[in-house]
Amino acid sequence: MAKYKTLNHIPSGVLNASDYESLAPSFISNENFGYISGGSGFDKTLHQNRISFSQYNIIPSVFSDVRNASTKLELLGESLEHPFLLAPLAYQTLAHKNGEIATAQACEATDTLMVASTLSSYTMEDISKNAGSHKWFQLYLQDNFKDTLNLIKRAENSGYKAIVLTIDASVQLPSRTAINAGFKMPNDLYPANLTDLTPSITETIDEQKSEVFRIFAKNVINKEIIKKIKEFTNLPLLIKGVLNPNDALALKELGVEGLIVSNHGGRTLDGVPASLVMLAKIRQVVGDDFCLLFDSGIRSGDDAFKAIALGANAVLIGRLQVYALCVAGALGVAHMIKLLRQEFELSMALTGANSIEDIKESLLQKG
Ligand SMILES: Cc1cc2nc3c(=O)[nH]c(=O)nc-3n(C[C@H](O)[C@H](O)[C@H](O)COP(=O)(O)O)c2cc1C
Repeated sequence: MAKYKTLNHIPSGVLNASDYESLAPSFISNENFGYISGGSGFDKTLHQNRISFSQYNIIPSVFSDVRNASTKLELLGESLEHPFLLAPLAYQTLAHKNGEIATAQACEATDTLMVASTLSSYTMEDISKNAGSHKWFQLYLQDNFKDTLNLIKRAENSGYKAIVLTIDASVQLPSRTAINAGFKMPNDLYPANLTDLTPSITETIDEQKSEVFRIFAKNVINKEIIKKIKEFTNLPLLIKGVLNPNDALALKELGVEGLIVSNHGGRTLDGVPASLVMLAKIRQVVGDDFCLLFDSGIRSGDDAFKAIALGANAVLIGRLQVYALCVAGALGVAHMIKLLRQEFELSMALTGANSIEDIKESLLQKG
């Protein structure tokens, strides 16, 4: 298969945002699709993420007057047109030659907040130039803390408005789906943000220690690190990858500005609960006024409606963005966002929700 088969138009038949997921396998190699679509282990959490949405129905309301309805919201000081953010997704040149640059252009065109990954194929500076005004930088800790701080400094200098520290992927085993599809990270694909890291001190490998624990020990997240990051930057700090209400409370007490309830789209520990299942419990412990975002499993505007009803202020879109990217580049991503918004607005209109704040759990029926 040619490396990229991206169209320069929207193919007919894309009626819903999720249609991009069905089309994607015809537009990228089987190997790359395996890497993007796969979860960890036996994909139990990956499937639970989808099942969790089908366990809720939306209750319509016939006497709704939504002539003045709006999807606008305020998030950590930013005024957003709608509650769909694009989640950090590594190595987007696997899906399209312009990778994150094309995604950023779609964000600018649709007034969408982009969260750019540490592991992007283009530098954060190049992405920022294309991304419009709403952009956050997703941070992975580096072996050397000086390099971590340097990434934050670069994010500040290139106009990112918040740091999103991902804490749920300290150790990841290769995905069975990716391996079975024959995926290998291409030799020429290296995270563009990380070309000038401090050479790590050669560590003496303790053969007695398991590989998992060794990797984990290198990437361990503790309260001190979070405090140091908070002292270093004035940008708001969000923590991504929270599922445990006790962790959520401890993080809030540390002074972070927001949390993202996420299981990394089912790509870390297989068997953890669907993010949606933990969302309302986490909202309960952090209180109503705390910034709480959500991702994992969203494939439609009505999924987003359900997540917001269960306590999220806004949601992040993961795989769907790269599926749209490989089908029709920036145009596809912009179109996917437009479809998500339409689906979401339909749910608002038919339930009588005039604003994001009106979307409450009472609009859902379980079972
Ligand atoms: C191919 C791929 C790459 C990802 N790369 C990152 C990353 O670099 N940083 C990060 O915090 N999360 C990363 N994630 C997780 C997403 O940000 C997000 O949590 C997840 O995709 C949401 O689930 P969904 O794909 O079902 O929407 C990645 C996910 C995928 C599928």
